[in-house]
Amino acid sequence: MLDTRPAPRSARAPHDAVRPTGQERSFGADELIVSKTDPRGVITYANDVFLRVSGYDLDQVIGQPHNLIRHPAMPRALFKLLWDTLAEGREIFAYINNLASDGAHYWVLAHVTPSYGPGGKVIGYHSNRRRPSAKAVAEIAPLYERLLAEERRHPHARAAVASSSVLLGELVAALAADYETFIWSLISREEH
Ligand SMILES: Cc1cc2nc3c(=O)[nH]c(=O)nc-3n(C[C@H](O)[C@H](O)[C@H](O)COP(=O)(O)O)c2cc1C
Repeated sequence: MLDTRPAPRSARAPHDAVRPTGQERSFGADELIVSKTDPRGVITYANDVFLRVSGYDLDQVIGQPHNLIRHPAMPRALFKLLWDTLAEGREIFAYINNLASDGAHYWVLAHVTPSYGPGGKVIGYHSNRRRPSAKAVAEIAPLYERLLAEERRHPHARAAVASSSVLLGELVAALAADYETFIWSLISREEH
C-alpha cells in the first residue's frame, strides 16, 4: 500500500537551524507560491515565487521535507489537521506562517490538495498559496498562539498535539459549525 504518512522525524530537515528574526516578508497580491510534494510531504516542485519568498535555491528545496520552512510559532495541531484532512482525500485551506532561510517569516493562505494517479492512488500533494489579508492574519494569529501555549504545557509531542487538537476543535466550535465553515468565513472576508 502507498505510504502517505508524513516523513519520519529522522528524515526531516533540521528546521531548528534557522532562527526567526521577527522580520515579516510579503509578496504580491497577484502572485502564487506553489509547491508539490510526494505522498510523504517531500518537495518535488517549487515555483520561482516560492524560491524568492523563502530564500532558497531550487536544489536546496527539491528532495527536502516540507517542514524545511516550518515556523516554530505554528501549532502542531494545524499540521495534524492538514495531514488528517489530506489522508481522507479532502482538500484543505489554511493560514500558515512560514519561515524563510534568513529567518524572516511570511504568512500565506494555502490551498492544499491531493493529486491522484491512475487507479485513483494518491501520488502526491499540491499547495497553492496567496497573500492573506492583514485582517485575516490578525484574526487567526491569536488562535494559533493559544494552541501553541497549550502545546508548550506538554513536554511530549504526542500529548501536546492531542491536547491542542482538542482545543482547536473547541475554539472552532465556538465560532462556526466546523473548520471548513470557520475558514471560509475568514476567506470570504479577504479583499480581492
Ligand atoms: C503539499 C504540502 C504543502 C505543505 N506546505 C507547508 C508549508 O508551506 N509550511 C509548513 O510549515 N508546512 C507545510 N506542509 C506540512 C509539512 O509537511 C509538515 O507537516 C509541517 O511543516 C510540520 O512539520 P513537523 O511535523 O516537523 O513539525 C505542507 C505539506 C504538504 C503535503
